[in-house]
Amino acid sequence: MYRLLFSLIITRVPAETVHHLTLRALRAIQALPGAAPALRRALAPRDPALAVRALGLDFPSPLGLAAGFDKDAVAYEALGAFGFGHVEVGTVTGRAQPGNPRPRLFRLVPDRAVINRMGFNNEGSEAAAQRLRRRRPGTIVGVNIGKTKVVPEAEAAADYVASAERLAPYADYLVVNVSSPNTPGLRDLQAVEHLRPLLTAVREAADRASARRVPLLVKIAPDLADEDIDAVADLALDLGLDGVIAANTTIGREGLRSAPALARETGGLSGAPLKDRSLDVLRRLRARTGDRLVLVSVGGVETADDVWERVRAGATLVQGYTGMIYGGPLWAYRLNRGLSRRLRASAFPTISAARHP
Ligand SMILES: Cc1cc2nc3c(=O)[nH]c(=O)nc-3n(C[C@H](O)[C@H](O)[C@H](O)COP(=O)(O)O)c2cc1C
Repeated sequence: MYRLLFSLIITRVPAETVHHLTLRALRAIQALPGAAPALRRALAPRDPALAVRALGLDFPSPLGLAAGFDKDAVAYEALGAFGFGHVEVGTVTGRAQPGNPRPRLFRLVPDRAVINRMGFNNEGSEAAAQRLRRRRPGTIVGVNIGKTKVVPEAEAAADYVASAERLAPYADYLVVNVSSPNTPGLRDLQAVEHLRPLLTAVREAADRASARRVPLLVKIAPDLADEDIDAVADLALDLGLDGVIAANTTIGREGLRSAPALARETGGLSGAPLKDRSLDVLRRLRARTGDRLVLVSVGGVETADDVWERVRAGATLVQGYTGMIYGGPLWAYRLNRGLSRRLRASAFPTISAARHP
């Protein structure tokens, strides 16, 4: 049904319009008394063998929704009800900003991929904090923070710190995003000499703002050289960070089948073409860090077998975004069911036992 709807109607509507309509529908579901709980009863993961204990939290499934879909924390409750074991909201920046001019979101259908140059369009960390303050329990919510575009790079840390202070009290975990290709200079913050003081300042800000020790993770780009991935892994261990999310979208364009004019659009590429690199980065991080870090694998996950492969390669948690664009509203539900089946067919009693190491 969704495939038919997708090819006949959805592809004829600008991608960002579809996104806003979807968010509006999700908000309506949240506002309708009893609707989200009913959906949750039907669609949320319930197989105890899929449960993952990580970051001091009990995830009902390893599969979560990656950052960028619910940038302003307006629909995470409904998204959790549709089967995501956690929802990462954001990226939220210190100040509200409009993002880049439209069009800024492109579907590469033959590649099952997307290019986006949204540029962190969001209402700012104060607005997100106001919303999350009224949070109801039921969905694990991570909060992903990034730099406001007009803030100079030399003052980046203060911008992240302002967001961390506002949001730490309401976040199940915090993510420092230094890997979007759509904010000039942002990815330079991945260099250890910039990343160390930034992560230290955010850790301290989170500790000031919340009596609870809020787990802190860093999200990296798939375009980092292997030595730089190792350097970030070493830094994460050195600073006592809780985990690494790998990876964000790529600026690479290798092997695409879509029309060259589309493939050449500026921005970050996500979806199927990211799969192999994302898996490589995960394996490298796991080999480097043993079992000392939570690793969240994201990039090109489309099927339950993909989730399984990530878990077997060492992912504690797995996220997806573009897979849902092509898979439709029941995507998370289907993947959870498929994952349960995959697990039953294996020799492992639980998904956590299947993780290596
Ligand atoms: C339209 C769009 C917007 C995104 N916005 C963000 C964002 O604000 N912050 C972030 O950390 N990642 C963002 N991402 C990256 C995703 O979280 C994810 O890392 C990436 O898309 C790879 O996963 P996928 O192949 O499953 O989509 C965005 C991705 C897309 C497609």
